[in-house]
This record gives sequence, C-alpha cells and structure tokens, in this order.
Amino acid sequence: MSSATVGKLAGKTAFVTGAAQGIGRSIAAAFAREGATVVAADLQPVAPDQPVSQGIEWLQLDVTDPNAMRQIADQHRDIGVLVNCVGIVPAGSVLDTSPAVLSKTFDVNVMSMFNTISALLPSMLAAKEGSIVNIASVVSSTKAVVNRFAYATTKAAVIGLTKSVARDFIDRGVRCNSISPGTVMTPSLQERIAQQGDSALDAFLARQPMGRFGRSEEIAEIAVMLASDAAKFMTGSDIIVDGGMSL
Ligand SMILES: NC(=O)c1ccc[n+]([C@@H]2O[C@H](COP(=O)([O-])OP(=O)(O)OC[C@H]3O[C@@H](n4cnc5c(N)ncnc54)[C@H](O)[C@@H]3O)[C@@H](O)[C@H]2O)c1
Repeated sequence: MSSATVGKLAGKTAFVTGAAQGIGRSIAAAFAREGATVVAADLQPVAPDQPVSQGIEWLQLDVTDPNAMRQIADQHRDIGVLVNCVGIVPAGSVLDTSPAVLSKTFDVNVMSMFNTISALLPSMLAAKEGSIVNIASVVSSTKAVVNRFAYATTKAAVIGLTKSVARDFIDRGVRCNSISPGTVMTPSLQERIAQQGDSALDAFLARQPMGRFGRSEEIAEIAVMLASDAAKFMTGSDIIVDGGMSL
C-alpha cells in the first residue's frame, strides 16, 4: 500500500474494526479517500472485489480475542488512528436479559475496545501521537429507549471508557473521543426491521425528528474529523450525531 500525500488523513495509518459493513465500512472508505493507509478488520470476510476495498488492507479478525489483537499490534507498529466500531444490539429489558447475553454484549461492545486499545496504545505513546475514536450510541447515557438494556448499559460504558483513556494519556499526545449516532440505516438496522415486521420501520423512523435515518457516511465524516489534526484540541468528548433524536 502506498502512502498518500494529500487528504485530511494523509500520512496516517488507521485501524478500523467492524469494517465489513455499515458505519465501519463507510469509515474505512472515507479514511482511505482522505489519504490514510487503512487496515480494516471484521469477523466476517470482506469481498476484496468491492470498490471500497481499494487501498485498504482487510483482515478477518475477532476483536474480542486479545491474542489476535496483540499479533496485529506486533505486525502494524505504525497505527496512529484506531476506530472501534464493532457492536451488537440485543433486544430486551433488564428482566428479559440473561447473564449470558449481557456478558456477550459487554464482550463485543466493551471488551473489544479494551483489547484494541491495550494492544495499539503503546505504539501510539511511543510515537507521542494517536487518535482513538469509539462508536458509542445516543441510546445510552444520553437517551433511553425501550428494550435496549444490554445495549444501553454497554454503550454508556463506552463513553466512560473513552473519558478514562482520554484523561490518562492527555499529556502524552494520544486523544480519545467517542461518537454517539442516532438511528442510522445499516445492514444491522435492516435486519432488526426485518425481524420485527413492518411496524418496526415506522417506529424507528418516528424516533428521528428529521423524518429520515442517518447515513453511515454522515457518521464517517465526523470520524474523519476526530481522527484528523483538525481535532487536535479535542479529547474525552462524545459527539452526538443523531439528527436531533435526543432533543
Ligand atoms: N446503525 C445504527 O443505527 C447505530 C446507531 C448508534 C450506534 N451504532 C453503533 O455503530 C456501530 C456500527 O453499527 P452498524 O449498524 O454499522 O453495525 P453492523 O452490524 O451493520 O456492523 C457491525 C460490524 O461489526 C462486525 N463485528 C461484530 N462483532 C465483531 C467482532 N467480535 N470482531 C470483529 N468484527 C465484529 C460485524 O461482522 C459487522 O460487520 C456499532 O457499534 C453500533 O452499536 C449504530
């Protein structure tokens, strides 16, 4: 992969998780367009013939596996931008949520971030430069919605994790911020709508006062900004990009 010299992220190497589809895929594509060298990881294989793949190194990887992440860190010591985008969305209130589901949700939504940050932060600190962007959700500490107990609990944890990492490394060149999207049309949202029937589409849309869903590219633009030097004075922030859902 050749390193681009133009673009908001020129000269940076970025690691993006959950990059096979949805928001993560748009982030990987936007980062590549803005000149970053992109290493994109997902549990599912990604089709190398798709246009977004150009200039992106694809890895099939389970980011809940700390050993796998340590290997990536050993192989890629130049990663200066980390975007944690994997996430799962189980349904149910506290009474419907089993310990196994809560534990799995913590594993994917929170432990994965612990694994990637633990593995990649040391080389960022050595370089005295780094930007970590965690994808949280407006459905967490910002706004509660029905039947999202495990999801909201873990996404609130993401915001706390973000602030903690930001504070600890504030004077060592590494920034850590989060993005809280509203309802964004992605394959996982389409799946939830398909599972719940026709009324689900209307119910999801009713949450969005602009009368439309967000687009994954609109989240990717904010990730570009946070990863770029334009955001050098930002750390520990949670940026809400929700089309007014939480107003
Ligand atoms: N879509 C929305 O409305 C919305 C709203 C707010 C926040 N978010 C958050 O944004 C992120 C992306 O959402 P999306 O809708 O694009 O999701 P998505 O389900 O469409 O994509 C998530 C990707 O993560 C991958 N993944 C899951 N577990 C993994 C693992 N252990 N290791 C590697 N990859 C793994 C999946 O294979 C998938 O490709 C999630 O964290 C989600 O919670 C989404």
